[in-house]
Amino acid sequence: MDTLQPTAPNSATANTEDFLPLLGTDYVEFYVGNAKQAAYYYQSAWGYEVIAYAGPETGVKDRASYVLQQGKIRMVLTASLEPDSIISEHVKKHGDGVKVLALWVDDAEKALAETLKRGAKQYAPLEVKTDADGEVRTASIHTYGDTVHTFVERKNYNGAFMPGYTKMVSKTPVKSVGLKYIDHCVGNVGWGEMNTWVKFYEDVLGFKVIISFDDQDISTEYSALMSKVVANGNEFVKFPINEPAEGKKKSQIEEYLDFYHGPGVQHIAVATDNILETVADLRSRGIEFLQVPDTYYDDLLARVGNIEEDFEEVRRLNILIDRDDQGYLLQLFTKPVEDRPTLFYEIIQRRGARAFGKGNFKALFEAIEREQERRGTL
Ligand code: FE2
Repeated sequence: MDTLQPTAPNSATANTEDFLPLLGTDYVEFYVGNAKQAAYYYQSAWGYEVIAYAGPETGVKDRASYVLQQGKIRMVLTASLEPDSIISEHVKKHGDGVKVLALWVDDAEKALAETLKRGAKQYAPLEVKTDADGEVRTASIHTYGDTVHTFVERKNYNGAFMPGYTKMVSKTPVKSVGLKYIDHCVGNVGWGEMNTWVKFYEDVLGFKVIISFDDQDISTEYSALMSKVVANGNEFVKFPINEPAEGKKKSQIEEYLDFYHGPGVQHIAVATDNILETVADLRSRGIEFLQVPDTYYDDLLARVGNIEEDFEEVRRLNILIDRDDQGYLLQLFTKPVEDRPTLFYEIIQRRGARAFGKGNFKALFEAIEREQERRGTL
């Protein structure tokens, strides 16, 4: 059974003031090869609505950005219009991938100052952006790989997204699949680098380790990984950090690092309050999920106890369930959503559980290995 086990007490707990209060994830920005087509995919397959746009038609000459929203989840898809730019370099090296994990703050200037003071490396200085709808302040710091955190202060803004973007709506009707908010975003880092990045989140952003898994927890006959979950004070923002571990064959994390050419965001977990409907809907729109064998369901109820969902539906949709001290969770993972086996999504519904589904790791990683085998990368 999966339990929440705080690891070593944080020595900084004596200092109870949260120097970086976070209101949540503000947005996730992808750098992609073709933002127009990616936006179509996220609208038609995932049910996100376009809410804003920036590009040549709005006076932005070097890029096109589509802002999409579903529930509280906001994504920005940005493509370069030029061969030599940070965006095109990012796409050339990584393929489509996450550039920015933006954090919603009350005071961007203070967020930048506090994190720089604690050792953050600045990516972009404080910028004050204004238009007729008010003001947004942003500032950015580096994290693992080429990924950055942007602090976004929007308390004095009433527009669609932020100055520089024009309000836009989807051109065809979009039907939501019931996604509500980002539950967690997972980073893959290189061999032996997990603790370095965990320490970065502890020291620089004031996060705490809430769970850790070692290679005994997360291994199959062939491959292994290690993982620690860091969270901010109110746990609105949770970042599991994975590193590969030695196994007989290639770890899925190693495969990611090979294809992404470095550390980066591995998966984004999006929450629903009706996973049966959400997953049935996504499947009908062509989203592919990892498949666990039907034997997974043989002892499932014995392992997790009573559930509110219809068990036959859970089984038919191949949804996974795990329990911790506080409740249970239902989850399911897509196959990679791009040509490179890098980024994928997790659909999660929490019924009290605060953990991450450790009881499903073995079945899941065996499913991932079957996919790796098909790609010739195991
Ligand atoms: Fe996850």
